[in-house]
Amino acid sequence: MCLIYIFGALAITSGVFSQDTTTLLPETQDLFVAVGSSVKIPCSDGEEKGVEWRFNSSVLVSSPVLSIQNSSLKDQGIYTCHQPNGDLIQTVSLHLGYPPSPPDVYCWSPSYPKRAICSWTLTPDPILPTHYIATYRSFSDPQSSARQCQKWGEQDRQCVVEELEIFASEPTLINITAINALGSTTRIWPIIFEQIVKPDPPVNVSMMVMPGRKLSVQWGPPPTWPDPVNFLLKYTVKFHWGKPETARTLGPYESNKMVLSGLVAGRTYYIQISAKDFLDDGQSSDWSEPISAIPIN
Ligand SMILES: *[C@@H]1O[C@H](CO)[C@@H](O)[C@H](O)[C@H]1NC(C)=O
Ligand SMILES: *[C@@H]1O[C@H](CO)[C@@H](O)[C@H](O)[C@H]1NC(C)=O
Ligand SMILES: *[C@@H]1O[C@H](CO)[C@@H](O)[C@H](O)[C@H]1NC(C)=O
Ligand SMILES: *[C@@H]1O[C@H](CO)[C@@H](O)[C@H](O)[C@H]1NC(C)=O
Repeated sequence: MCLIYIFGALAITSGVFSQDTTTLLPETQDLFVAVGSSVKIPCSDGEEKGVEWRFNSSVLVSSPVLSIQNSSLKDQGIYTCHQPNGDLIQTVSLHLGYPPSPPDVYCWSPSYPKRAICSWTLTPDPILPTHYIATYRSFSDPQSSARQCQKWGEQDRQCVVEELEIFASEPTLINITAINALGSTTRIWPIIFEQIVKPDPPVNVSMMVMPGRKLSVQWGPPPTWPDPVNFLLKYTVKFHWGKPETARTLGPYESNKMVLSGLVAGRTYYIQISAKDFLDDGQSSDWSEPISAIPIN
């Protein structure tokens, strides 16, 4: 058996320290260490004279105990302990990182009343492989079993909350738990469906030049909004020529078109549209990408 002395947070994966005398080459031991902590790793045959530790194949210390103070990311790598004749005794792969910090959570609903999406970030980045358990349940019913917040898209820090209660008087509690070799942490994040509504931008924005220095503007509702008939959206139109800071906004409009008039022939006008829940719940969408047109007389 090998002993390990630990100062600071450290975790060891699997029972790698039980020695199997039948194996010729000992398997690699993975060590996970928090940045800034100190670690001492004795060689398994530590009693022997002339034992040495190598780091990434170059000799580090001629001593049976490897000691790293105030470890930093540059200490990451493969450490091997060798007998005086050069035979390999032991291999340690040192991984540095941080225990997870409580996730910063952001939830929004581009698809009210069907679903909401939650995404989160960790500061500092734990660097080490970290996995997440994301669940949610109603605040008013703590006995209810938590439901899984399913992974959403390619990201592993994003999940989808479905069948949220609408007009609920109590929040739904999102539980994001982050786990890695150095520890785990949980953030409980309350949401009220109507407060986190944020449609995606309108699509298919187009402009038609009309005689008399007018532009006819048309757009479509964001395709992610599930039911624009029963859950109406309203739209704001923003347009400018010259400096973007001089932009003016018009609306809100309930329909999917409007006419800009009183323009100047020959100028290039840029327009963008944003959508908001008709009842003013939550936030406006981001602006659609600008498109341009030049009015004529
Ligand atoms: C540990 O190292 C970091 C950066 O290399 C340094 O800022 C810090 O002062 C050191 N801490 C101690 C206790 O030596
Ligand atoms: C040691 O090897 C690891 C893994 O190959 C590498 O990431 C690290 O930069 C190397 N460190 C040094 C100081 O050579
Ligand atoms: C949050 O989720 C974790 C992991 O499933 C669980 O252990 C913990 O008890 C939950 N916390 C609360 C307050 O629900
Ligand atoms: C946007 O345009 C595409 C292609 O012309 C069309 O398939 C789609 O239905 C349009 N979407 C909306 C919301 O108007």
